Amino acid sequence: MHTNSPLRVLGITGSLRAASFNTALLSAAAELLPPEMTLEIIDLADLPMFNVDTEKPFPESVAQFREKIAIADAVLISTPEYNTSISGVLKNALEWASRAPQPPFTNKPVAIMGASTGVFGTARAQIVLRQVLTHIGALVLPKPEVMVPKAQEAFDEDGKLVNETTRGFLRDLLIALAAWTRRVKE
Ligand SMILES: Cc1cc2nc3c(=O)[nH]c(=O)nc-3n(C[C@H](O)[C@H](O)[C@H](O)COP(=O)(O)O)c2cc1C
Repeated sequence: MHTNSPLRVLGITGSLRAASFNTALLSAAAELLPPEMTLEIIDLADLPMFNVDTEKPFPESVAQFREKIAIADAVLISTPEYNTSISGVLKNALEWASRAPQPPFTNKPVAIMGASTGVFGTARAQIVLRQVLTHIGALVLPKPEVMVPKAQEAFDEDGKLVNETTRGFLRDLLIALAAWTRRVKE
């Protein structure tokens, strides 16, 4: 791969909430994106509940979701923490992705991050997310970790990430993801 070609990143939010802090964290990533990257942000609202009985043929929304992962150079997932784990919405999407004939996360560079209103900032959800992604073949960026605790204080009322320290961590994560992706591709 040519080192100057732009890296296409697919951003996936694990929350369906209109004012989601995790979707806002992806919007902050779009602002802080290195010039060598592009970012498309999607939510998981269109995916049906996973059911083995309905996977052949894959529903159209699932086929589109898989295709978006497949054509991306890298994926950036922002996960909420629900009851110490990832959201059911996100786990459901990973089930669908894992069952493709050619699972699109195989050898895909992936970075994870998350925002929660609790004090652990999705630390527990990220452990689960890393475990599941690794199981389905993704190459999950080891570090840096971006965990946003007390998200209601890190974002302003318009959903802008205003915590400068967190913005710095996020910038570092994106730079590390670019390097990780180029390393995997070359
Ligand atoms: C069902 C449910 C369970 C939750 N469990 C946790 C939790 O285990 N840890 C935590 O830090 N926050 C927890 N929260 C609070 C979330 O961090 C908070 O709702 C956050 O805004 C969700 O992310 P979002 O803004 O992207 O939707 C929970 C919220 C809900 C609705």
